[in-house]
Amino acid sequence: MQNRNETEQYISLVEQVMEIRKRGEQPLAFIRTYGCQQNVADSEQVKGLLAEMGYGFTDTPDNADFILFNTCAVREHAEDRVFGNVGALKSLKRKHPSILIALCGCMMEQEHIAQRIHKSFPFVGLVFGTNCIHDLPKMMYQCLVDGKRLIVRGSQDTVIYEDIPKRRDGTFKAWLPIMYGCDNFCTYCIVPYVRGRERSRTPETVINEAKSLIESGYKEITLLGQNVNSYGKGLSDDKKMTFAQLITEIDKIEGDYLLRFMTSHPKDCSKELIDTIANSKHISTHLHLPFQSGSDRILKRMNRHYDREKYLEIIRYAKEKIPNVSLTSDIIVGFPGETYEDFQETLSLVEEVGFTSLFTFIYSPRKGTPASKMDDPISYEEKNRWFQELLATQEKISARRCADMVGRQYRVLVEGYTNHGTELQARTSGNIIVELQGNENLIGQFCDVEVTEAKNWILKGKTI
Ligand code: 5AD
Ligand code: SF4
Repeated sequence: MQNRNETEQYISLVEQVMEIRKRGEQPLAFIRTYGCQQNVADSEQVKGLLAEMGYGFTDTPDNADFILFNTCAVREHAEDRVFGNVGALKSLKRKHPSILIALCGCMMEQEHIAQRIHKSFPFVGLVFGTNCIHDLPKMMYQCLVDGKRLIVRGSQDTVIYEDIPKRRDGTFKAWLPIMYGCDNFCTYCIVPYVRGRERSRTPETVINEAKSLIESGYKEITLLGQNVNSYGKGLSDDKKMTFAQLITEIDKIEGDYLLRFMTSHPKDCSKELIDTIANSKHISTHLHLPFQSGSDRILKRMNRHYDREKYLEIIRYAKEKIPNVSLTSDIIVGFPGETYEDFQETLSLVEEVGFTSLFTFIYSPRKGTPASKMDDPISYEEKNRWFQELLATQEKISARRCADMVGRQYRVLVEGYTNHGTELQARTSGNIIVELQGNENLIGQFCDVEVTEAKNWILKGKTI
């Protein structure tokens, strides 16, 4: 843990820069975030620092003085979108040469990507990786005043900078990172390379942050980590706590709130954790437990350290202890060397567990990972056919699970309006969306609803 006193001086320097540039007008920042909730949480720190430096925010790049894309490297598709969207900024920079265009996040920790940005996008003035956010004022100063073009990488830095201000996007839902990085090295995954070694925030800082969120009226807190079940590794003995102990402590905080967490890794998912959820007051009845593949052969090649039976054992225990537990998972289709028989094992696991919903991905080779060097004879078209089969299977299961909910009552948190506008959208503790009629002032509140109708996997309800 470290504070950023050293960077304070730069905040005032950047303020000076902005005064010169905008003659008193408030400069505006546009931030676009790709990828997972950890990136969303990182962007909240970026916004906290920018607000402290005097920036306002805009939701269009056209009138921004500072444009930042916080990028994701987990699949190629995410990277392609970033390249496309950065390319589109070229004409904006030509029109307004004073704007600073910056890229940060996981993609930028990869040497070949940083090189490509440097060569192909000369209008990008600042590139920084993960765990560099505390240095933002300093980096911006160097770009804006010294006219430097900077590329800074930081995934090897394992310090946790605790006093970076946050500007949260939500007023009643909050992300709360409890740890950073990952040590698991699943063979398909780029995360350990771009986010560095696993490290945990101390229980005290996490619990205090949760307390202050609850006191200021937040209704839902989601604890974040790549593998929350291994929380605490590396903490000194006097501060050591397991994840189950951590959430037990948070659960003791008085108030009306829901506690969520993600992501769990099956290899470290203990019975103690499931008992904790079952006995808690505030923890959601949702368990997101990615199994990736139902085939033991593929799980070994993925370096996942559990097998199908161990996974099913956890699921059986969770179903037994947590009434109406809602289970979700991540699945990769078409891992190198996967056969149609292996894929059938994934399908049968999906059938056997009965997930509420799934996050499904076609394998995407990531440069530098062991899987990208494995033989991968199955064509993308074939993998896509398997993928469609998986979607169709899950759609039937989701529809069945939703139909089972009709006539039952649930406590939901109302989150806002649905995309089509007229109805409210609410979420059950099991993370299932229910649409309902109701007054705007329900937004941000818990209320009890009865599910009245299920249209495939869309639920309609009414307040009771
Ligand atoms: N290809 C496809 N999906 C991937 N994931 C991680 N790496 C890859 C990859 N190379 C998926 C996993 C993980 C989720 C966040 O993204 O399912 O759980
Ligand atoms: Fe990637 Fe595996 Fe770490 Fe998850 S646990 S971030 S899939 S390496």
